[in-house]
Amino acid sequence: MKVKETIQVGKSQMPTIGMGLWKLEKELAAKAVRDAIEMGYRHLDSATDYANEAEVGEGISQALKEGLCTREELWVTSKLWNTDHRAEHVRPALERTLRDLQVDYLDLYLIHFPIALKHVPHDRFYPADWIYDPDSESPKMELDTVPISETWRAMEELVEAGLVRHIGVCNFPTALIHDLLTYAKIPLSVLQVEMHPYLTQERLLRLCRERDITVTAFSPLGALSYVPLNMAKAADTVLQEPVVLAAAERLGKTPAQVVLRWGIQRHVAIIPKSSNPKRQRENLQLFDFALSDQEMADISALNRNQRFNDPGEFCERVFNTFHPIYD
Ligand code: A2P
Repeated sequence: MKVKETIQVGKSQMPTIGMGLWKLEKELAAKAVRDAIEMGYRHLDSATDYANEAEVGEGISQALKEGLCTREELWVTSKLWNTDHRAEHVRPALERTLRDLQVDYLDLYLIHFPIALKHVPHDRFYPADWIYDPDSESPKMELDTVPISETWRAMEELVEAGLVRHIGVCNFPTALIHDLLTYAKIPLSVLQVEMHPYLTQERLLRLCRERDITVTAFSPLGALSYVPLNMAKAADTVLQEPVVLAAAERLGKTPAQVVLRWGIQRHVAIIPKSSNPKRQRENLQLFDFALSDQEMADISALNRNQRFNDPGEFCERVFNTFHPIYD
């Protein structure tokens, strides 16, 4: 099974492995990004919400200045936050991201969640969070009523203005994709969702394949990022599964490489995050081995529809607001 180092997004080629930037500490971000580019990463997965775009931008700028790669060789993704869904807020949000990242266009801009929150002016605080007013006595989310069609149209205008090459969405279930496809004039190029062996999302993946939507898996290693956030238990790790360990043993690879290879062998892009250079390098080295059909099937059979990143759960627990988006 041949898996290419790039995956088609519209008429472009996106590097199959990206560096996830969620939870990358501000203080480390500039150097981590510069070093990742030196190591060979050509795809960076950023977001306003990660609160480190200015530092990521420093890293990008440094790498470009040093000639480690050209801007054209780099694939930069970012995401529109929930408080900027109204049409008049979309372009200013993108412009802020471009300034912070020190680039003059994005390769991909995604709607981060199908959740519209009341706008928070950028000069009040930036980036806005889930909570409208963190200083209030009972902080909670303030929902807004913005149809996704309004936000999508404003995203299309960014493509028309040459500020963004491709647009897409994150965390959309199948029904919302069907709806979006009824009015999208510029194609929905990428869907980014949580995807790993405990959440294989077969139907969502099949729908995307049939509609030429490229899927990017976030949290491709499963529970690991959620353990320190109390959103998963250490025992939820897929890296200890006997089928993963057996494949790792057979191939002389690490369990993480096996799980990531399972991801890309399903023709999905992946954006593992690591702040450790050894693991960053390991996560790039996925093209010199292959899982057998049986290993692929055995790993897929680990599915238990276990979602670690679920607004229906964490918005209630952390932000006092019940707002499910998946059944
Ligand atoms: P660290 O940053 O210390 O390397 P995800 O992208 O799925 O959210 O995964 C991120 C989590 O997985 C982080 O906790 C990261 O820790 C860990 N991680 C990333 N790559 C590897 C790897 N190759 N082996 C083990 N853990 C990894």
